[in-house]
Amino acid sequence: MRLAGWRQKHGHRQCEHPKCAQNPAMPLAQFHGRKLGRTTFAAMQKNLTVLAVESSCDDTGVAVIRGRTVLANIIANQSVHAQFGGVVPEMASRAHMQHLIPTLDAALAEAAVQPADIDAVAYTQGPGLNGSLLVGATFAKSWAWQHGLPSVPVHHMHAHILAHFLEPGPPPMMPFLCLTVSGGHTQIVQVNSPEDLIILGQTRDDAAGEAFDKLAKLMGLPYPGGPLIDQLAATGDAGAFSFAKPQVDGLDMSFSGLKTSVLQFLQREMAADADFVASRQADIAASVQSAILGILMDKLTKAVAATGITEVAIAGGVSANRGLRAALGEKAERSGWRVHIPPMAHCTDNAAMIAMAGSLRFAAGCIGGLEVAPDPRLPF
Ligand code: KG4
Ligand code: ZN
Repeated sequence: MRLAGWRQKHGHRQCEHPKCAQNPAMPLAQFHGRKLGRTTFAAMQKNLTVLAVESSCDDTGVAVIRGRTVLANIIANQSVHAQFGGVVPEMASRAHMQHLIPTLDAALAEAAVQPADIDAVAYTQGPGLNGSLLVGATFAKSWAWQHGLPSVPVHHMHAHILAHFLEPGPPPMMPFLCLTVSGGHTQIVQVNSPEDLIILGQTRDDAAGEAFDKLAKLMGLPYPGGPLIDQLAATGDAGAFSFAKPQVDGLDMSFSGLKTSVLQFLQREMAADADFVASRQADIAASVQSAILGILMDKLTKAVAATGITEVAIAGGVSANRGLRAALGEKAERSGWRVHIPPMAHCTDNAAMIAMAGSLRFAAGCIGGLEVAPDPRLPF
């Protein structure tokens, strides 16, 4: 069935909400202002089979979900960037082109589905690297068009949050708060519905993941350093060293001062003992991690106090951090928060989260046309 057929059959149309009218790339229907409960979701999503493509940065992901169940979630990582100490955009785009077809084939085989079993194709519209998004979005839209399926554009940061609706684990009750911490973003978001997400606070400079990576680099660790700091911190003393805490009003955060503080500290110590970093690696990692997590947990606690919402989730690459997961677990025990900690496979970039967000949007009436363009700075 062609897109026009879909629109006719399911009553999908361009949303008249001012936010969507301004952005024709986000055609929603009958969504805004509607508060959807848990039961409504379950009913809406019954048996919806969604294939998704994620290509916002350097990982090529293709996933298939049915309802809340992940049937396949394949990721092709790009090793080509390691030697450069960061992602090289042009190389990422080329690698996506090489990886997309084999990754799609693997996902379809693992999920044991045919194109005819699929209801919609979701893809990351943004934010992300321009070339990477362009390759993935063009591929997804073309594949959908070839099979007469509707395509659904998805906001990458919404998807990190909406991954909580995937199995396992009970989906969060709305409204809930989500601390989204990735390599490019650090936000505290209030989620009233899958399309009504409000940023309560965010970083004014570096993202938390970026801070992890930059501080790891200062310690001579390779990119991405976040997981390595996490690993080293497990055997270190978090109280060994302390760093100046940034003073930022409200729920906003700042991490750039911490970088300067750690840099000056390391330079001072290295001048006295050239082996300082090597000999105290675990203690430095644990102290640096503790400083970053201190900022995050402090603001999250303030957000809970300000909103009275104790249903709290974490999302994004940094939510894989064991220290952060433990700190949240402690809050659940001591302060009665109802916490949602995603499984490791849903923390870093993956296509299952795009499929979940796409499924929710599609169920609510959103489909995009072939004309929808990826946007590296897609507004939240
Ligand atoms: O969400 P993500 O996979 O990609 C985007 O940025 O969208 O996040 C990647 C970030 C990197 O900065 C990486 O160092 C960080 O997440 N990260 C971690 C851990 N695993 C990934 N940071 C701290 N501890 C971890 N275990
Ligand atoms: Zn991400």
